[in-house]
Amino acid sequence: MKKSKYIWFNGKFVQWDKATTHVLSHGLHYGSGIFEGIRAYSNKKDTFIFRLSDHYTRFFNSAKVAFIKIPYTQNKLENATLELIKKNKLRDCYIRPLAFIGDGSIGINPSNNKINVIIAAFKWGTYLGEEGVKKGIRAKISSFSRMGVNSFMTKSKISGNYINSVFAKREALNAGYDEALMLDTDGYVSEGTGENIFIVRNNKIKTTPITSVLEGITRDCVIQIAKNNNLEVIEQKFTRDELYIADEVFLSGTAAEITPVREIDDRKISSGNPGKVTKIIQEEYKDLVRGISNPASNYLTKI
Ligand SMILES: Cc1ncc(COP(=O)(O)O)c(C=O)c1O
Repeated sequence: MKKSKYIWFNGKFVQWDKATTHVLSHGLHYGSGIFEGIRAYSNKKDTFIFRLSDHYTRFFNSAKVAFIKIPYTQNKLENATLELIKKNKLRDCYIRPLAFIGDGSIGINPSNNKINVIIAAFKWGTYLGEEGVKKGIRAKISSFSRMGVNSFMTKSKISGNYINSVFAKREALNAGYDEALMLDTDGYVSEGTGENIFIVRNNKIKTTPITSVLEGITRDCVIQIAKNNNLEVIEQKFTRDELYIADEVFLSGTAAEITPVREIDDRKISSGNPGKVTKIIQEEYKDLVRGISNPASNYLTKI
């Protein structure tokens, strides 16, 4: 990771290396935190944060689910994010807001421990690699299930939940794959470790309903782009063998953007190359986030 100069920490801009916390922080022991992943993109002229308010709305919703009372307004955090990017002189970057329960009580009940909020912004390339974005990645169905919806709270990005993704990701990498695909507790396809999943069959797009996965902001963009291209989008559960016989499979996420999947469990997806629909969505998403197709889009916050 490439360090930036400052991190916003409880209302102040502090030096990157000084943004530290107590080892008895509740969040560190029990995963009692919530976070977001946001990106800023630039074109030749301007830099924009993509869907800033939508990300912070999800941040506050995650906090509500997790009983974490954020001591700042959404407006304050959005403005702090803009300021942070300016102070760090960043253009294309990844933004990581996090709220976590601090030290005080070490019991499971966090009592009145302080809520800490940080925002970091730094340069971070494509999550699943440049090669992966161009040629597609190799994925493996994980031996770990996505936790049930009454344990996982799928509408929120709760830090502790992500240990499930960490297990799955490491297992996939150790086995020589690029990413893990997770099934839900009923055996249906749910999502990647940090991405939503789409398949294309006979020119129709299918994705998991949001009942059991994160309401991905990129997922929402993919659906809009598909509909603008007169492609039918079905939100429906599907099984792992439908992945194997799909014409195209791709993942969507702020970090992973639109990444084609070329092979799953050692079965080539169609010809093993990114498909036509995936490429259309990839291109249009790229132009949308960079303000190329519509610089006046209300998804873009200019820095
Ligand atoms: C589990 C999970 N699913 C899906 C996504 C994709 O969401 P988004 O497109 O909002 O980044 C993410 C990333 O935040 C994630 O962590």
